[in-house]
Amino acid sequence: MYIKSLELSNYRNYERVQIDFDKGVNILYGDNAVGKTNVLESIYLSSTTKSHRGSRDKEIVRFGEYEGHIRSLFDKNDVDYQVDIHLRTDKSKGIAINGIKLKKAAELMGVINVILFSPEDLSIIKNGPSDRRRFIDSELCQLDKVYLYNLTSYNKIVNQRNNLLKDITYHPELTDTLDVWDSQLISLGTKIIDRRTLFVNQLNEIIYDIHKNLTGENEKLLIKYDPNIEIMEYSQKLKRNREKDIKYKLTSVGPHRDDFIFFINDMDSKKYASQGQQRTAALSLKLSEIKLVENITGQKPILLLDDVLSELDSNRQNYLLNSIGNIQTIVTCTGLDEFINSRLTVNKIFKVSGGKVVREN
Ligand SMILES: Nc1ncnc2c1ncn2[C@@H]1O[C@H](COP(=O)(O)OP(=O)(O)O)[C@@H](O)[C@H]1O
Ligand SMILES: [Mg+2]
Repeated sequence: MYIKSLELSNYRNYERVQIDFDKGVNILYGDNAVGKTNVLESIYLSSTTKSHRGSRDKEIVRFGEYEGHIRSLFDKNDVDYQVDIHLRTDKSKGIAINGIKLKKAAELMGVINVILFSPEDLSIIKNGPSDRRRFIDSELCQLDKVYLYNLTSYNKIVNQRNNLLKDITYHPELTDTLDVWDSQLISLGTKIIDRRTLFVNQLNEIIYDIHKNLTGENEKLLIKYDPNIEIMEYSQKLKRNREKDIKYKLTSVGPHRDDFIFFINDMDSKKYASQGQQRTAALSLKLSEIKLVENITGQKPILLLDDVLSELDSNRQNYLLNSIGNIQTIVTCTGLDEFINSRLTVNKIFKVSGGKVVREN
């Protein structure tokens, strides 16, 4: 699949901009803070309904305006998908596909697959567990609607249970109602654990070879799912922690506390690997994401590379650029130097400045 064109109005620093992309490799270059990431963000949002920066709609609408629009035109299997997103400062967003309004934003998930790679992704191993969970969840939610539904419901139940835990302090007679929430938690939580287990297996089948190649056969990379609780002990652990949960007014166990460990040559890379090794493993992770989406959906995703090339040494840059192959890629960078020595064919170059995106070649 690929994006043919993008039209933004009152989106971040853009009053109005229109871009026609190439099916192949597109470069957006320009100084800092001119709006390069904003363009990628809008494409990411057109696929996932969310900003990869975690921004809220009212922060995305151009300062001083009430609403903003994204119109993107995608091609998937020679079928056109026009995605319209209407962002508002005072209401939740409206989304339409080919002019038909969606009842729920979540219906957009999985229609278009994009993979966004930004410098922050390179520290996924060093960061806390929530970043790794966010990675796994955002991937799974794009690929599996049932997972998306289960995760959304699970998070809702955790919130409601936490509210109940607060109420119990003043109304101890409510304690018994926890049983109802707990059985729902177990039912949804179990499904999440099962799917994450399968996902990590699917990822491992791909990442091993990619990482081996990337490190000149020197490193074996294996991701291990580290669930906060085993399914077998779920209900027992919830019960055992009930007193504590009431005291702290928080649900202390469950998949919302899961983690994922990256083993390099059988050693926990968070503890023992150098920063360079950790970053290479993160690159392998991103590259396997492309393959995984292809395997699961039968479609090549759209790749968005936000300023990552300058973060990689020339070996890894080349590896990344060579593995792009025939998938649509939109790269942002401050200068064009990175491409001079690479074998990559660049199809379109755009210069970003002063709220405009102008084609250069
Ligand atoms: N809601 C908004 N309205 C207007 N300008 C915005 C808004 N949000 C961000 N910006 C501007 O966008 C610019 C940053 O854009 P970004 O795409 O991150 O730049 P870069 O080219 O470095 O990737 C900043 O100048 C910032 O002030
Ligand atoms: Mg940027």
